[in-house]
Amino acid sequence: MTLLEIDSLVVEYPTRGFRSQPFRALKGVSLDIRRGETVGLVGESGSGKTTLGRAVLGLSPVTSGTIRFEDREIQDLGRRQRRELARDIQVVFQDPYSSLNPALTVSDILSEPLLAQGTPAAAARARIRELLDQVGLPTDAGDRFPREFSGGQRQRVAIARALALRPKLIVCDEPVSALDLSTQARVLDLLIDIQEATGVTYLFVSHDLSVVRHISHRVAVMYRGEVVEFGDGDQVTSSPEHPYTRTLLGAAPVADPARQRERREAREAALAGTDGAA
Ligand SMILES: Nc1ncnc2c1ncn2[C@@H]1O[C@H](COP(=O)(O)OP(=O)(O)O)[C@@H](O)[C@H]1O
Ligand SMILES: [Mg+2]
Repeated sequence: MTLLEIDSLVVEYPTRGFRSQPFRALKGVSLDIRRGETVGLVGESGSGKTTLGRAVLGLSPVTSGTIRFEDREIQDLGRRQRRELARDIQVVFQDPYSSLNPALTVSDILSEPLLAQGTPAAAARARIRELLDQVGLPTDAGDRFPREFSGGQRQRVAIARALALRPKLIVCDEPVSALDLSTQARVLDLLIDIQEATGVTYLFVSHDLSVVRHISHRVAVMYRGEVVEFGDGDQVTSSPEHPYTRTLLGAAPVADPARQRERREAREAALAGTDGAA
């Protein structure tokens, strides 16, 4: 069953200068995501991944095309309807340093969305305990500030905040890209566990094909504002049809092949490893 359906989406950013043409960041993108599914969006920097994620969140300037969520079009909602939709569509960004308010305790950060949606204080406190447990943080984490946590733990706080209102869809934009390899693996596995427990759907953006391959049911490959390939994750990442995907697969994250093999082995070992809080 389809939860989100993007059809022929065009996004243009204005450019400076007299008579200059707007820059077309998305050139007619189509994509669907089923309930409970993870669709990975992969592509090199500047290919339009963040623009697409932000379009789903109502933050990109949509020129034409449609975004259908459940049974309605959401590409040009008014401010109030958009706020209501925040119950259903949430986001986790790459950098929890900038996405978590440093002046608030973790409890305050987690209660914000709950109180904004009218949850009574006692129910909010109970929900916060539940959320901390769900993301593998200790109960007393609530009294502490973001700076007191490691990068991986901070990302757990950001995930807990995204989950607070029991959304149907979470847009994850490079959520593990700032973390070291073993922490990446644990946070990815946490996201998978949460999906199994709650049935939440992910649009998962990353420039890193191995990350996308690990978490996604289906993978869409973006190149210069277009989806050039979209299909079963294993299929796309092991025997891609499009030449660009092959280039992406062959692209070396590090130039030295020995170092590359080491990295791959470390990641595979880490992914096979234990849960434990990152
Ligand atoms: N707010 C903006 N204004 C103008 N151009 C932008 C803006 N955001 C992104 N772009 C441009 O759109 C293209 C796609 O960017 P982005 O969606 O961030 O790609 P990705 O997330 O794949 O790296 C890039 O060329 C980028 O420079
Ligand atoms: Mg991006």
